Amino acid sequence: MLRALYDTSTNFLNVHEWAYGATEVIHIACMALGIGLIALLDLRLLGANIGGVTPERLVRATLLGSIVGLVLAITTGMMIFSTDPLRYVHHPTMQFKIVVLSAALVFNFTIHNLIAKRAQPAGAAYLVAGISLLLWVTVVFSGLFYAFT
Ligand code: HEM
Repeated sequence: MLRALYDTSTNFLNVHEWAYGATEVIHIACMALGIGLIALLDLRLLGANIGGVTPERLVRATLLGSIVGLVLAITTGMMIFSTDPLRYVHHPTMQFKIVVLSAALVFNFTIHNLIAKRAQPAGAAYLVAGISLLLWVTVVFSGLFYAFT
């Protein structure tokens, strides 16, 4: 395990360039699936009319897709991370992304989904949707800006 942290030359993604590229593509596609479904629900909570569906039904309809998307995004993220763990672990933008991601996950599967199911009171639903969008947009932008920092 410790050896793998220092010697990444045998890591499958480092040996096969196509595998690295494919993992990045899956990372981005799954992130789009998971966060896209959460954002859809947030827009509904903010008052958008999405096919006349109630927030409660939308929570049920999007839950599985958002879990699958997030689990695969996190798994592929960890795979990319393993290609150079010592560089990533010390990078402030990566550290920031992991902290905000953890906060977004806890918030999403607790307060967010609870309030979304009831969509009551309306003020709370607005606030929760705003916080949720802010957290997820921050995760995506810290992933994007990693390369420039
Ligand atoms: C839903 C959660 C996540 C989102 C929204 C997300 C978002 C992103 C984005 C937008 C990129 C930039 C892709 C590109 O420019 O090609 C990226 C790259 C990356 N992500 Fe994630 N990510 C998530 C989870 C994770 C996790 C859990 C890890 C690791 C523990 C991780 C590790 C990485 C790594 C190592 C890169 C490549 C950075 C580089 O060298 O440029 N990600 N992520």
